[in-house]
Amino acid sequence: MKILNTIKEARGYLNEIRSKGLSIGFVPTMGALHEGHLSLIREAKKENDFVVCSIFVNPVQFNNEADLKKYPREIESDIKKLKKEKCDLLFHPSAEEMYPEPDNTKFDFGDPDKVMEGKFRPGHFNGVAVVVKKLFEIIEPARAYFGLKDYQQLVIIHKLTKDYNLPVEIVPCPIIREENGLAMSSRNEFLSESEKKQASLIYLTLKRVKIQSGFATISELKESVFRQFKKSKTMKLEYFEIVDLYSLKPLRTWTESNNIIACIAVYIGKVRLIDNIILFS
Ligand code: PAJ
Repeated sequence: MKILNTIKEARGYLNEIRSKGLSIGFVPTMGALHEGHLSLIREAKKENDFVVCSIFVNPVQFNNEADLKKYPREIESDIKKLKKEKCDLLFHPSAEEMYPEPDNTKFDFGDPDKVMEGKFRPGHFNGVAVVVKKLFEIIEPARAYFGLKDYQQLVIIHKLTKDYNLPVEIVPCPIIREENGLAMSSRNEFLSESEKKQASLIYLTLKRVKIQSGFATISELKESVFRQFKKSKTMKLEYFEIVDLYSLKPLRTWTESNNIIACIAVYIGKVRLIDNIILFS
């Protein structure tokens, strides 16, 4: 696996790959790789001639300095994992390389950026879009792979590529879970064994919601979820929303949309976890 740290080297190397007529699949990550990330690499391997993974802990998408500081960085073991998956190129730039000057780009993604993650982490998606657009312009992939785990991010990236006519196909990939249902996340490393067990309540709740959707009203379901998390001593529900799959508009009745997803954010101690389940599509 080739490892490159500068934009100039990556551009030069990938220009040659493209000139040979090879298609490039791209998996952007922030590292501390787990099976969720690796599933994206595998999907990209299936559909492209050459696979690029980026590892960059993007400072401008963190709205909390402490969160950025403690974000796990495990480059040596990440490299081993990527080699095992036969990833072709790792792009691993420094913050100075990506942001020689502060980037003041302001995107306007409209309503999808005003709910859920956008509401509770103001500026987060602007920072994500800044880095993903830069990365797309450096790598110029034919296809880029994103997990459904960060569903709202996927919607925003899709909008970004449409708004700017970026010539890349966005490929959504399924959520990979631990045996107990907990969605894999780099942040799970901060959970104790007992917290991991308790966190299985998140997916259990989403599955229950899916079974009950259509039978109970949306407000009844939302109330029951809030009540359930109120009982927990260690977990704090930040939001639980039932929204349109495409516009992310919060719904009040089932008849407002045929494509519906439930999204949740929960704190266990200081660790913030998100998850979702598609109810109708
Ligand atoms: P990161 O959290 O490292 O995630 C990188 C990619 O892996 C994202 O597309 C995410 O949705 C996907 N992913 C994470 N956990 C997953 C799981 N359990 N199952 C399936 N896919 C999963 O998302 C980011 O980084 C950043 O915001 C980034 C897009 C790299 C921009 O900085």
